[in-house]
Amino acid sequence: MRKQIAAANWKMNKSLEEGKSLLEEILSSVESVPSNHEVVFAVPYPYLYPLQSIVEGKNNIFLSAQNCHHKTAGAFTGEVAVDMIASIGLKFCVVGHSERREYFAESNAVLADKVNLCLTKEITPIFCCGEPLDIREAGAQNQYVEQQLQESLFHLDEVAIQKVVIAYEPIWAIGTGKTASSAQAQEMHAHIRSVLSKKYGTEVAAEISILYGGSVKGANAVELFSQPDVDGGLVGGASLVAQEFIQIIKALQ
Ligand code: 13P
Repeated sequence: MRKQIAAANWKMNKSLEEGKSLLEEILSSVESVPSNHEVVFAVPYPYLYPLQSIVEGKNNIFLSAQNCHHKTAGAFTGEVAVDMIASIGLKFCVVGHSERREYFAESNAVLADKVNLCLTKEITPIFCCGEPLDIREAGAQNQYVEQQLQESLFHLDEVAIQKVVIAYEPIWAIGTGKTASSAQAQEMHAHIRSVLSKKYGTEVAAEISILYGGSVKGANAVELFSQPDVDGGLVGGASLVAQEFIQIIKALQ
């Protein structure tokens, strides 16, 4: 049974003290997370280790890295390897966020390498995909997202693909306040699941969590998460406000 997941992406925000208070405030309102749900906080690298003791021992609550490098180790000043992330006990890493693709020129091929490295270390990649506005306006979003999946994920076998979480984040909905409608989200999530079904079979496809990201808020989370193929959210802005993210966690179905 696939998990329903509320994932916070703090991006490049908050000091350590602010982040600690935010995390503590959220967790004080979330007593227990049922076994079919997961709550994940993708926080800046320097906070991963210091914040770990806050989530340790709490069932189904995890920290995540926001990125990793695509090589195992070496002369890559300023970068962080998957081994390092694994060595502090992390279980999740966001891979291929559209901001990484856009500002750091990450290609589908490089993201395939990152996914592979994560899986060798038993880290769940939260693999982001999604189209820019011009592609949506041209009605070409389905092929665009399908190509992202093909080039970064479809080399995986049917066991490995089930260890990936997919996050559909239409770029035009990120940080713009312009959420995809629940119908638009469901339509793309169903498309992603049908592409997964074609490649891996319906049983495998049914096991893969597909999160929606793009202006998710407390006020729209229930409606989005109630769609049959929307298995939770990857949340930017609203994850920085305790009461908003608490509402989003509570909206998991
Ligand atoms: P917003 O929720 O701020 O639109 O950001 C979405 C996102 O990019 C999460 O990774």
